Amino acid sequence: MAPITVKKICCIGAGYVGGPTCAVIALKCPNIQVTIVDLNQARIDAWNSDNLPIYEPGLDEVVKTARGKNLFFSTDVDKAIAEADLIFVSVNTPTKKSGVGAGYAADLNFLQRATRRIAEVSTSSKIVVEKSTVPCRTADAMRTILEANSKPGCRFDILSNPEFLAEGTAISDLFAPDRVLIGSLQTESGKDACAALANVYANWVPRDRILTVGLWSSELTKLAANAMLAQRISSVNALSAICEATGANIDEVAFAVGKDSRVGAKFLKASVGFGGSCFQKDILNLVYLSESLHLPEVAKYWKAVVDMNEYQKDRFSRKVVDTLFNTITGKKIAILGWAFKKDTGDTRESPSISICNHFLSEKARVNVYDPQVTEEQIWLDLDETSTNEVDHKQHVSISKSAIEACKDAEAIVICTEWDEFKTLDWAKIYEACPRPAFVFDGRLMLNRAELQQIGFKVVTIGSGDV
Ligand code: UDX
Ligand code: ADP
Repeated sequence: MAPITVKKICCIGAGYVGGPTCAVIALKCPNIQVTIVDLNQARIDAWNSDNLPIYEPGLDEVVKTARGKNLFFSTDVDKAIAEADLIFVSVNTPTKKSGVGAGYAADLNFLQRATRRIAEVSTSSKIVVEKSTVPCRTADAMRTILEANSKPGCRFDILSNPEFLAEGTAISDLFAPDRVLIGSLQTESGKDACAALANVYANWVPRDRILTVGLWSSELTKLAANAMLAQRISSVNALSAICEATGANIDEVAFAVGKDSRVGAKFLKASVGFGGSCFQKDILNLVYLSESLHLPEVAKYWKAVVDMNEYQKDRFSRKVVDTLFNTITGKKIAILGWAFKKDTGDTRESPSISICNHFLSEKARVNVYDPQVTEEQIWLDLDETSTNEVDHKQHVSISKSAIEACKDAEAIVICTEWDEFKTLDWAKIYEACPRPAFVFDGRLMLNRAELQQIGFKVVTIGSGDV
């Protein structure tokens, strides 16, 4: 047997991973027809419109160039599956909310439903690729489902091809990835399937960046990479608490530490805590896996990364309350930034949500502004996380600009590092604030001296002097 030449790709799941990834594959491989499908009609309609369902720099251009030529968005899941020779499974795998492993393990319900559909609909052999982040050995479960439900003569080769793109830089990450990882069974057909997918990526990714490994190594690598990245942030955030207590400055410490080539400079920015759909979920997954494997010390080690993140969010919120003379009841506080990082409209696990809820539990009045997150999404996030202690509808308002959010605010809290916050007319904002006016820079992004000169009292994460 020789590797097949992939001509038609189906991607199940038109979310943050499936959408951008397969749009870039279509752009870079004009000879391959790529159909991205989703059960969610509104999402597919948005992908087919001028108003894409996700905000990602550079994405509009990619989609506009390929859509209608070799890139299609559809809700006809069965047709796209039936026609494809290779299927990416990019459905959501959130943390389980109930049952065994609740709060830790991944909910594989969506993945299993999609897998079952592939088996039921396929009338020819397929390469099935796990794109969603999954626990180690999920491919085994997928194979069992595929084999139990398949028609005679249909073969399924399963590959793991985790996606390492980061939101906000997804398109440049996809154009020039550090590596593409493909895991397969080390059988002849497994290796052929792996080569077929490698040939797709080789249309634009240098061969030496396409790594081929065993299936389980690939699955574990995704969890390991995210856990190690998050661990760096928790380490630097833990040090930021020491900086605040000693008068050291975390940016200076991180810069000097990062100059050691063994450590490296990236991912050492202290913050209000990490957010996003991956870090926490994947670490909790790793914790669950370790416990299932009877490795409690390993589980405890990784769990501490998430615990430190919770501590950081809580510590920052408390600092705001302490600084505002131990009470924020009835005080107006502006939260600038609701997305979990800049250049995305995604709010999953965003620290802003926890921080806002903390302020609400202290009965503050909160004004929120974010350049990309919709008002509807902010309400949804609060509805889902509200503790019902305080009616958030009464205490929160959502502003159309940073200036509007900051008007009359006793404290301005920077939660997301949007570039536009650097160039705001801070002098004008100061004029519209009661005295003393505080800025809490949870992203270490503003020019402290300039703000102080205007008159603000500035408190930053990881820096001792107020
Ligand atoms: C992450 C991984 O980077 C990516 O490889 C994987 O595919 C998915 O998960 P993402 O969550 O999109 O990507 O964004 P990332 O840039 O990793 O940021 C995650 C969180 O960490 C954000 O809240 C960000 O603000 C925070 N962060 C990042 C810091 O607090 N400090 C840093 O130095 C870097
Ligand atoms: P991610 O960040 O991993 O891409 P998202 O939640 O943004 O996660 O996207 C996952 C998408 O997968 C959602 O739009 C959801 O509707 C879709 N999806 C889930 N299950 C199925 C399925 N069985 N068939 C088609 N689409 C599905």
